[in-house]
Amino acid sequence: MDQLLKNKNIVIIGGGSGIGFNIADKFLSEDAKSVILLDINEKQGNIAADVLNNTHGNVAALIPVYCAAKFAVMGFTRCLGHEDNFKKTGVRVIALCPGFTETQLTKPLLDEKDTDNSEELIKFVKGFPWQKVDAVGDAAVAVFKRAKSGTAWLIEGGKPIEEVP
Ligand SMILES: NC(=O)c1ccc[n+]([C@@H]2O[C@H](COP(=O)([O-])OP(=O)(O)OC[C@H]3O[C@@H](n4cnc5c(N)ncnc54)[C@H](O)[C@@H]3O)[C@@H](O)[C@H]2O)c1
Repeated sequence: MDQLLKNKNIVIIGGGSGIGFNIADKFLSEDAKSVILLDINEKQGNIAADVLNNTHGNVAALIPVYCAAKFAVMGFTRCLGHEDNFKKTGVRVIALCPGFTETQLTKPLLDEKDTDNSEELIKFVKGFPWQKVDAVGDAAVAVFKRAKSGTAWLIEGGKPIEEVP
């Protein structure tokens, strides 16, 4: 299966910065028709929309209610993305699982001066292969193009995407 992003309308929750923002940028570069950014941080959402509008045009920023935990997201993906549901709806549901990625969310974890971070935590976190948001944006495009509904994909250390069994 090779899916094209051309003419697709994309919704990104948390698209105001970090990984979500980079995916929005990459999807628009692949000729997505529009990207809707859902972000609780209205200011950040508007800044992101301005940046993307200046680069690509056709972007809207909205404020959503978002509540999903990571385990629930995997279960949700496997269930809603099940082949039986896909046959009925034609809608693919796919999970993208990034390893440690340099963003505002994770930056504090590497701050050795932050008194909340123990030596153990910093050592633990540094032991993982980190990546830039760009790797996750590229992975999202690759996953979009080839993933079957109900599947989950790992992108870690900027290596090629791998399906999560
Ligand atoms: N950075 C990593 O290493 C990493 C690894 C695995 C998974 N993730 C997940 O990827 C997602 C994005 O992480 P990031 O590192 O880009 O974070 P980030 O903090 O850089 O960006 C998150 C964006 O989401 C917005 N946001 C937060 N809560 C929201 C809500 N309830 N509704 C709408 N928007 C909301 C924020 O305002 C921000 O613009 C998160 O779900 C995070 O748990 C991140």
